[in-house]
Amino acid sequence: MSNVNAILKKAKVSGDLSREEIAALLSITNETMLQKLYDTAYAVKAEFVGRVAYFRGLIECSNFCIKDCYYCGIRRSNQNVERFQMDEEEIFKEAMWAHEAEYGSCVIQSGERQDEAYIAMIERVVRRIAAASGGTMGITLSLGEQTEEVYRRWKDAGAHRYLLRIETTNPELYAKIHPADHSMEVRKACLESLRRTGYQVGTGVMMGLPGQTMEDLADDILFLKAIDIDMVGMGPYIPHSDTPMGQEIPAYTDAEKSAALQLGLKMIAVTRIVLRDINIAAATALQALEYTGREQGLKCGANVIMPNLTETEFRPKYQLYDNKPCTDENSAMCRGCLSGRIKGIGETIGFNERGDSLHYRKRVGE
Ligand code: 5AD
Ligand code: FES
Repeated sequence: MSNVNAILKKAKVSGDLSREEIAALLSITNETMLQKLYDTAYAVKAEFVGRVAYFRGLIECSNFCIKDCYYCGIRRSNQNVERFQMDEEEIFKEAMWAHEAEYGSCVIQSGERQDEAYIAMIERVVRRIAAASGGTMGITLSLGEQTEEVYRRWKDAGAHRYLLRIETTNPELYAKIHPADHSMEVRKACLESLRRTGYQVGTGVMMGLPGQTMEDLADDILFLKAIDIDMVGMGPYIPHSDTPMGQEIPAYTDAEKSAALQLGLKMIAVTRIVLRDINIAAATALQALEYTGREQGLKCGANVIMPNLTETEFRPKYQLYDNKPCTDENSAMCRGCLSGRIKGIGETIGFNERGDSLHYRKRVGE
């Protein structure tokens, strides 16, 4: 324990921790030490990015997907999903709702599609959102692997940020949770393309995957640092019953849920400690494990929350994992309940601010 105390003391002044030190922090289970870890991460967050939570209105615009990840509820082979696709007008309307609700930015997310009709539709709607908000609104895309040319087209249309999770940086684990034609190297190349194209780039991993160790997660954090990432979105793995991985391991017991939440919070805390000034999202998956999971994420170092804007009718169809929260609420209810809970933990909400990653601004010399 004294070792952990020494690491936390060092962490207050520097994020320069070794793989062993990171794994030691992730292995904490003692309640007192956990609280010390979270408090240290919160102090680093307050110093580097302030006690402000930024909202990104999340538009889950389609659950069609050409990928077949073994963990994901909307994987191509899942016959039990009713597929939906919002049209351009619906996406635009939701983005304008976020604009009027003063969220400052939106995220357009969907299953992966690489056909020209889809690419062109996204390009048009991004252009419309950028024009209608006078270029003020932050537009983040989370639309999977694409060619550099496609990334450039969407960037030219007005998108600024892109999220593409690496999921895990352990090659054996990556191969276990994906079909053979899903490649980690391609994903890394996409992250490089995104960087070249000028986006603020975000990536992240799932934690609590079967067979994943604390050393794997330490390597994941060091990877985020090595590629000089601007934003991180990561969350606990939660089994979905209609997936190959979900069928191997049944739904979490209450004790497993608490353990998954705790690991999710520890990863946020240690990522904040190591990477200091990046944006870190408190993933919705945290809330699936416990109602206040996302607020707990903010207390452990996250500074971004992505309230769901997707029309209530579509929400049950966008189930990446079981028990996804708020699937029967609409966006206005989400804004109200979230704002109240965030103020309740003593943070301000960055309304009408794009909330660009400070790390990105420093990196490009703004
Ligand atoms: N549990 C948690 N996260 C999941 N994702 C997909 N399936 C699951 C699951 N069962 C995450 C992946 C993907 C993001 C859109 O959702 O990390 O990148
Ligand atoms: Fe790959 Fe959904 S199919 S994350």
